[in-house]
Amino acid sequence: MNILDGKVIGREHRRQSAMRAEIYQQSTGLQVHLALLLVGDDAASQVYVRNKAKACEEAGIRSTIVRLSATASEDDVVNMVEQWNTDASVHGILVQLPLPRHINEERVILTIDPRKDVDGFHPVNVGRMMIGASCFIPCTPAGILELLRVGNVTTSGAHAVVIGRSNIVGKPIAALLAQKRPQGNATVTQCHTGTRNLHDYTRQADILVCAVGVANLITADHVKEGVVVIDVGMNRLTLDDGSSKLCGDVDFASVSPKASLITPVPGGVGPMTIAMLLSNTVDAAERMIA
Ligand code: GUN
Repeated sequence: MNILDGKVIGREHRRQSAMRAEIYQQSTGLQVHLALLLVGDDAASQVYVRNKAKACEEAGIRSTIVRLSATASEDDVVNMVEQWNTDASVHGILVQLPLPRHINEERVILTIDPRKDVDGFHPVNVGRMMIGASCFIPCTPAGILELLRVGNVTTSGAHAVVIGRSNIVGKPIAALLAQKRPQGNATVTQCHTGTRNLHDYTRQADILVCAVGVANLITADHVKEGVVVIDVGMNRLTLDDGSSKLCGDVDFASVSPKASLITPVPGGVGPMTIAMLLSNTVDAAERMIA
């Protein structure tokens, strides 16, 4: 068993983004700039946004965080995004999801200028990704592809089983793994909460991507010997003593002895998501002067 260390791989990626941001600044006189919008007081979202902004600062990328209260209106959110759309100093826009229930997420995402949509959530970017055109690839799927690349995982001809069908992870990673591209050309099976006899599929996986949000769903009897496991789960478990710990969708203790490569939680996919956000932001800035 070998651990795919997202902290180490992500750090190298962030170093490269920092170098590109520096070159951009030297050649244009402008600092690469990411604007982040956080609406409401979801504890996990607050941590994610803070970590994203911190990673920007460390890479020499300017970040602006705007926090709106949970009672902000949909128009307040849309207005903020529109202001950033027309602000030439802003290269990337990120609206942290989920939004409070009274706000229509789809309308907000549609408002983001696709050229600044570093999350790759706008339908223009989703559509371009599906046809293999240049686009912003959503950060978590992009991070997974980078882990597979650095881990020298042969995806071509392999059977990749994806569990999950979210717009952020499940749908895009299934599409990307199937495409004729590096870290693609796999035979993809997509499972989800409606799948009967899940283990019948997972046991056939050469590569297993778990993005369901159910702690320790995948155990040793779900996988075959030598499987490559990518665990996207970020589940907070409350322990008997009242403390809490982050754990993935995969029962690491039982699955890791059978896996040829596996990502830990924390320290696997999470740090890669942030690293890819930085490179998408530098991409956005570079494309604006191209
Ligand atoms: N919520 C969970 N993951 C993400 C992400 O990658 N981007 C945004 N904007 N919100 C999220």
